[in-house]
Amino acid sequence: MANLSSNHIPVLFHEVLEHAQVQSGDVWVDCTLGRGGHTEALLQQGAQVIAFDRDQQAINETSTRLNSFIKSGHLTIIHNNFSEIAHSLESLGIKSVSGILADLGVSSPQLDEAERGFSFMSSGPIDMRMDQSYGISALEWITSHTTGDLCHILRTYGEEARAKYLAKVIKVWTDEAVENETINSLDTLALSRLVESATPMKLRRKLNKHPATRVFQALRIAVNDELGALEQLLKDAPNLLALHGKLLLISFHSLEDRMVKKCFKYLSEPPTPPRRGLPPPPSAPLEFKVNIRKGLIANEEEKAMNPRSRSARLRILTRIRNPHS
Ligand SMILES: C[S@@+](CC[C@H](N)C(=O)[O-])C[C@H]1O[C@@H](n2cnc3c(N)ncnc32)[C@H](O)[C@@H]1O
Repeated sequence: MANLSSNHIPVLFHEVLEHAQVQSGDVWVDCTLGRGGHTEALLQQGAQVIAFDRDQQAINETSTRLNSFIKSGHLTIIHNNFSEIAHSLESLGIKSVSGILADLGVSSPQLDEAERGFSFMSSGPIDMRMDQSYGISALEWITSHTTGDLCHILRTYGEEARAKYLAKVIKVWTDEAVENETINSLDTLALSRLVESATPMKLRRKLNKHPATRVFQALRIAVNDELGALEQLLKDAPNLLALHGKLLLISFHSLEDRMVKKCFKYLSEPPTPPRRGLPPPPSAPLEFKVNIRKGLIANEEEKAMNPRSRSARLRILTRIRNPHS
């Protein structure tokens, strides 16, 4: 089993390695380098890894730690959105790979560092961008969108039942700050306290998480266009797999998991007949299979050690036939 050079154990680590079945010399893509736990394990098993991250800070830290693999030519790190996977591999002259892994969402360092603006527990700028060199901050997102837009993302990305009311409260708060020229003093802790105070005590007691959790999740997904990036990855990644190549996706909430599940089902099942009683339409032989229908979740030991793993689900797709073979 891999022996990592940092004490950070990535989510579903053993499950990923067991199903990746890396052979020496295989080319793997890690779409979400982060602190490089999964990447390092793939490298230790003899893979050549191309790793993406949108976060320059994560790249700086991890490339220092994994510098020997970069120097030996086994690791290539790309500062880009994984939605660019097809273009990036093409520009490296790579047509197909043995495996693609994505451990979606934000990393613990991003969540823990107040300055990044992802945490509702500490005071920092309302930023939430994974790539701080690109796009607009969460605060700019709020001020440049309508109450209706905010309500829409709270409802769809945050699955927040009180989306309409909370959108109004947040917009009144930022509008007042714009008017009073105090907008730059608004921070994540003030936003989370605002949402908390707009949540009745009775409801707060019922929730098993902080009342601002869903608001922060919705803003983060919108600011980083996380579902747009996943949609593009799901379009491109299966086509980049060599025969027997695997796509391993770890998602952390139902919005992502639903997209992954639907895509894998579409690729691995014959089309349903248009009408009952009619034979199925002629179809090309299936190119993919789903490895474990319900996917894999963390065991009790991992859940106890790493609370973030509690909502993780790993789904695996394998190429079983080359196109037009
Ligand atoms: C959960 S962490 C990955 C942790 C990693 N597996 C490890 O072992 O440390 C997710 C990382 O993916 C990056 N990320 C998320 N979405 C991305 C995207 N669309 N393109 C590139 N990187 C992304 C984040 O910046 C973050 O560093």
